[in-house]
Amino acid sequence: MKEFAQTNRIVYDALAREYAFRRDNLGQYSESTEYLGYSLLKNVSDRSHLQVMEIGPGAGQILRYFEDNGCRTIGVELSQEMCCLCRTQSPNSIIINGDICEVNFGIEQFDLIYMGAIIHLFPLQDAKILMKKVWTWLKYNGYIFVNTTCHAKSYEGYSRKQDYPSEINRFRRYWREDDFEQFISESGFSVKEKLYTDEKDRMKKWVALIGKKEIIHNNETI
Ligand SMILES: C[S@@+](CC[C@H](N)C(=O)[O-])C[C@H]1O[C@@H](n2cnc3c(N)ncnc32)[C@H](O)[C@@H]1O
Repeated sequence: MKEFAQTNRIVYDALAREYAFRRDNLGQYSESTEYLGYSLLKNVSDRSHLQVMEIGPGAGQILRYFEDNGCRTIGVELSQEMCCLCRTQSPNSIIINGDICEVNFGIEQFDLIYMGAIIHLFPLQDAKILMKKVWTWLKYNGYIFVNTTCHAKSYEGYSRKQDYPSEINRFRRYWREDDFEQFISESGFSVKEKLYTDEKDRMKKWVALIGKKEIIHNNETI
């Protein structure tokens, strides 16, 4: 496992209880689980037997949303403590405790892939490799949800996580919104929708992109 992932595993093990608290005590400006989950699920009309994967499910609330909506759900979660939360919150999901960079799935296995507040935990080069794998794992006409916070410029490195009481350093990439959208497009996804959240109480502005893996013929999507 690379150093940034080892560091982040320690960080999220330490933060698991705080994530569980925030899951159960949603901030005034935070989006609800239903809103976030539905923003992805609404894109598919035939919802029978959907295969959904979540990368970095944290405290497990989004997995539970998809589970409650009849999907077959798999989560890949780095932190052992977070895995314990997930298994309680979403008991019918398969939870793999591991680094998504070291996990492999078959091609075109998932209808939907949810990536909430995770892409900024990877250095750019690793994020590029990850998004290529995500593209491979997703079925044609499948969708992804991927979000991050917006910043004045794109840069990365180790820094203290600001909005939690624990004094803890983790790896973080900060994305400019246009760089982020370009990155998702260049990873092969058509950006179908952009959703914004202004979390005033945490001074965070989020952009979520709904991306689709489309069939391309002669440079035209069908
Ligand atoms: C910021 S939290 C977000 C949790 C949840 N998605 C949410 O939106 O509430 C990021 C989660 O991703 C997990 N994570 C970080 N790096 C990972 C990796 N390389 N593979 C799998 N999970 C990872 C962390 O352990 C943590 O639970």
